[in-house]
Amino acid sequence: AIAGLAGRNLILVGLMGAGKSAIGKLVAAQLGLPYIDTDHEIESAAQMSIADIFAAYGEPEFRALETRVIERVLAEGPAIVSTGGGAFINPVNRELIARSGLSLWLKADLETLWDRVKRRQTRPLLKTENPKQTLKDLMDKRYPVYAEADVIVHSRNVRKEAVMRDVLKALA
Ligand code: S3P
Repeated sequence: AIAGLAGRNLILVGLMGAGKSAIGKLVAAQLGLPYIDTDHEIESAAQMSIADIFAAYGEPEFRALETRVIERVLAEGPAIVSTGGGAFINPVNRELIARSGLSLWLKADLETLWDRVKRRQTRPLLKTENPKQTLKDLMDKRYPVYAEADVIVHSRNVRKEAVMRDVLKALA
């Protein structure tokens, strides 16, 4: 499996609730590589939560911070890097990702995503009248872009260890 990465980063992309963080941690532990969550890096750089950054400065400022963090994190690799759901949508980020590693889309269906995000009400983009519909709209808009990832793994609604093994198989 490690041969597939050949010293490069593995960057997990996909919508909120796809399991990027949970699966990323497991894959990193298996491969003995550091695990980095770009949302977490943004929060520690700004000393604020993502929700507070959106509320205080707006989404464009968040996206600018996100690109800076992605650039830094990828340069420090190799690591297993999970990104926020919007990261891969920005062509600048896609280019940074393509140059430094392998992108992997954790693809999930609406019910699986919704099941996972509805419990945590922290995501600013889902603070809408009908968050499930918003998630569906984001799927429609973003799935054609996520499809550009180097590798696609279905984030099935099963134990995360099983999805982790699917990721390792896809890298082998
Ligand atoms: C976002 C997803 C979030 C976070 C921010 C914006 C998005 O990350 O980066 O709220 O645009 O889809 P997760 O995918 O980890 O929830």
